[in-house]
Amino acid sequence: MTPAFLNANILVTNIMDGENMFVSEAININKLNHLEIGGCDCVELVKEYGTPLYVMDEGLIRKNCRIYKNAMDKHYNGSGMVLYASKAFSSMAIYKIVEQEGLGIDVVSGGELYTAYKAGFPMDRVYFHGNNKTIDEIKLALDKNVKRFVVDNFEELNNIDRIAGEKGKKANISFRIKPGIDAHTHDFVQTGQIDSKFGVALENGEALEIIKYASKLKNVSVVGVHCHIGSQIFDLGPFELAAKVMLEFISRIKEETGIEIEELNLGGGFGIKYIPSHDPIEYDSYIESVSKVVKGVCKEKGIKLPFIVMEPGRSIVASAGATLYTVGAVKEIKNVRTYVSVDGGMADNPRYALYESPYDAVLVNKPDADKTDVVTIAGKCCESGDILIKDIALPAIKAGDIIAVLATGAYNYSMSSNYNRIPRPPVVLVNEGKSRLIVKREDYEDLLRNDIIPEDLNK
Ligand code: LLP
Repeated sequence: MTPAFLNANILVTNIMDGENMFVSEAININKLNHLEIGGCDCVELVKEYGTPLYVMDEGLIRKNCRIYKNAMDKHYNGSGMVLYASKAFSSMAIYKIVEQEGLGIDVVSGGELYTAYKAGFPMDRVYFHGNNKTIDEIKLALDKNVKRFVVDNFEELNNIDRIAGEKGKKANISFRIKPGIDAHTHDFVQTGQIDSKFGVALENGEALEIIKYASKLKNVSVVGVHCHIGSQIFDLGPFELAAKVMLEFISRIKEETGIEIEELNLGGGFGIKYIPSHDPIEYDSYIESVSKVVKGVCKEKGIKLPFIVMEPGRSIVASAGATLYTVGAVKEIKNVRTYVSVDGGMADNPRYALYESPYDAVLVNKPDADKTDVVTIAGKCCESGDILIKDIALPAIKAGDIIAVLATGAYNYSMSSNYNRIPRPPVVLVNEGKSRLIVKREDYEDLLRNDIIPEDLNK
């Protein structure tokens, strides 16, 4: 992985040329020489909402949804569907946006499902994932009539069949298959290989076995197969290979069992630009390339073109987000490192602590000043690993400055915690110069909401 500081210098916006050199197109510099997102001056946003603050550019989220939807419509002649993988960022407002853009959603828990339901999301566009769906979650999903259960294992399959039977329903299911593909990504987010807790493997025959077994059950109907080979992937190759392997599997299912698989879900995992050296493929060109493989293999094997589903999460919301922090202590340890501590950290963005994920940052109040210092941006948690960015080149920083960490729209708010009893920051949606709160800032009372002091401790 390339250290962030090697790339940081390339970041300055070239105002003279009018070119935006930031990692995200959501970010600009305005006439006051302040950072601007979705037409909103970040200095003003901080005055209004405080820090830490998650900011999400609605226009860019919608644009990303449209890129995917248009490409799917174009390359599969309307016989395809894009699901937003809502684990990347789940809130009632995002489900509204995604619904308006004509996408479906992937949910992985009762909580995500319930949030979507309460937001009025059409349940016939909901795919329910997860490697250990609980009985209560299965009941909820059946009661709400989700479109698809993506079944992970035998235990779950039997549970769905039994509970559907009890409810007098038939569940439409697909299977999460491990196609055995190495997606060249970080080990922690690579999920297509056999040594993964997700799904059933192709190579040991388990995948075919579960499909044969399911076809004999009364209360489920086998509709599709699914794979997801990993996340933050830049190469096209693994996606093409996954499509090929899955279609060959569909053909084999037909040969050996006579079952015609109607739907192929190719998952998500498309990489985004966190730092300038990241070079993601254009999402529409990815869809085009994969569609060629899909159509080619179908022709070769003489199988019907299945309904194609894709599930991008990160690439829809990550670049649209930024997190604004106020700088507190600046600690220069001579000949060692300078720590710049901010008023958030791993509780609102645990991704460096978990995966050493690189990020870029800008000073909100002087985004184009010369980058004279190399500093490490640390959080405020009682934990040495509470780092947001290690060794990044930035202009001289002092207490009170505002820093924006960029491309935090995915897997930040959704992975946040109350570690150290730190209340979660609010989320603000910005668009064409207007800002609206979509998630309120937690306060100390929110932290106490579920706490109970048993009577006998209260003596
Ligand atoms: N579909 C399935 C079945 C998935 O498991 C995932 C992500 C996605 C779609 C969406 O993948 P995306 O397009 O967002 O890469 N917390 C990690 C990412 C974990 C992703 C898990 N599954 C991170 O912060 O990088």
